[in-house]
Amino acid sequence: MRISVIGTGYLGAVHAACMAELGHEVLGVDTDDGKIAALSEGRAPFFEPGLDDLLISNIRAGRLCFTTSLADAALFADLHFVCVGTPQLPGSLGADVSSIEAVIDRLAPELTRDCLVVGKSTVPVGTARRLAARLNSLTLDGIVAGLAWNPEFLREGFAVHDTLRPDRLVVGVTSAEADAALRAVYAPLLTVGTPFIATDLATAELAKVAANAFLATKISFINAVADVCEAAGADVVTLADTLGHDKRIGRHFLSAGLGFGGGCLPKDIRAFVARASELGVADSARFLHEIDEINNARRRHAVDLSRDLIGGSFADRNVAILGAAFKPNTDDVRDSPALEVAAAIRSEGALVRVHDPRAIDNARLKRPELDYCDEVDKACEGADIVLHLTEWSEYRNLDPVHLRSAVRAARIFDGRNVLPLGRWRAAGWTTRSMGAAPA
Ligand code: UDX
Repeated sequence: MRISVIGTGYLGAVHAACMAELGHEVLGVDTDDGKIAALSEGRAPFFEPGLDDLLISNIRAGRLCFTTSLADAALFADLHFVCVGTPQLPGSLGADVSSIEAVIDRLAPELTRDCLVVGKSTVPVGTARRLAARLNSLTLDGIVAGLAWNPEFLREGFAVHDTLRPDRLVVGVTSAEADAALRAVYAPLLTVGTPFIATDLATAELAKVAANAFLATKISFINAVADVCEAAGADVVTLADTLGHDKRIGRHFLSAGLGFGGGCLPKDIRAFVARASELGVADSARFLHEIDEINNARRRHAVDLSRDLIGGSFADRNVAILGAAFKPNTDDVRDSPALEVAAAIRSEGALVRVHDPRAIDNARLKRPELDYCDEVDKACEGADIVLHLTEWSEYRNLDPVHLRSAVRAARIFDGRNVLPLGRWRAAGWTTRSMGAAPA
């Protein structure tokens, strides 16, 4: 099938490459010349494991091209995926859907044959129905352009895997033709048994926000329990393991620590609250305020625990921070808990040196007041405390004996509960974590 993917940010770039990998002819479209130039050479403008290889192999196979011309996309494709961003509106909890509206407004008059427009972005429920009417009113006479919604559940760091081997496919459709077109797009995934749920537009839109709200709730639940563990002298990691053995609960998303960040979970729960309020059911979504608040409190708590560990004040102390990305395997620092903690400690008068295997360039743009190091040893040189805030696998394998010779005082704070702190203590470090009494 001939497919266009409109918007080549994170979601769009991954989706374009994966649709080509499924055997379709794909044209990726973006207004940003720089992005299109990089993608045309097989380079994603961000770090995502496996993506560059997929881009290169599909460009070479002649199945994947990129352009800045929406008119070319309109001419080329039978099906248009819209993958533009829906960030949080400044000064509001709601999501900004103006980029999607702009795509519909610009694409519709260019369409010269019948086609299906499929939204993939995360939107407030009711957006798709509104966009369908808008699309219909803007297409030329005689052209039929249907609208469907097909939310994306991919995780950064595992985006290629999650797109090519999704847990489920959800499509919101209003016609048998749209249902058939989307089954054809995903035929290779349906053959291997991927669950395919065809439903109405509103349910498909909600499938995404509800999933993210649930995941955020699970994380904040265990983080609230972590506070109780700390106060009671219990251990949240062992507790989460025992909960996880219960098949009704499961261990995923029960890792207590610094909490969630990134471009999706925080903004999606806020947009859910805003939309529920517009729909007159604010009370039913009110608990998500609490989920958000528990999450924000984790960052303040990490600063408090670390200050405690260093003896009461950060003023003029050297602080090494391991991790700047909002989670491992990405260079994304949007709403990064690690970076926010680093900046808060800097604002208390410390000299803060940050290491991250991938995210330093993005972190420097966002927080230029911090110092950055390419090597862990350099970041830790002369440190009075080391804070482990993003759980890159290389940090788990650090040698505490070796690192002890670099620091001024051997104190380590584990904000992600994954370091083997027994080994660190055996090497002479004082340790502290989130969700356990001080060791
Ligand atoms: C999320 C959803 O998982 C994905 O389905 C959706 O498409 C986009 O939003 P992503 O933002 O890539 O994906 O990250 P995710 O892996 O969900 O992690 C989100 C945040 O939660 C990270 O900051 C992570 O560190 C944190 N987290 C995750 C925890 O604090 N504890 C956990 O147990 C799991």
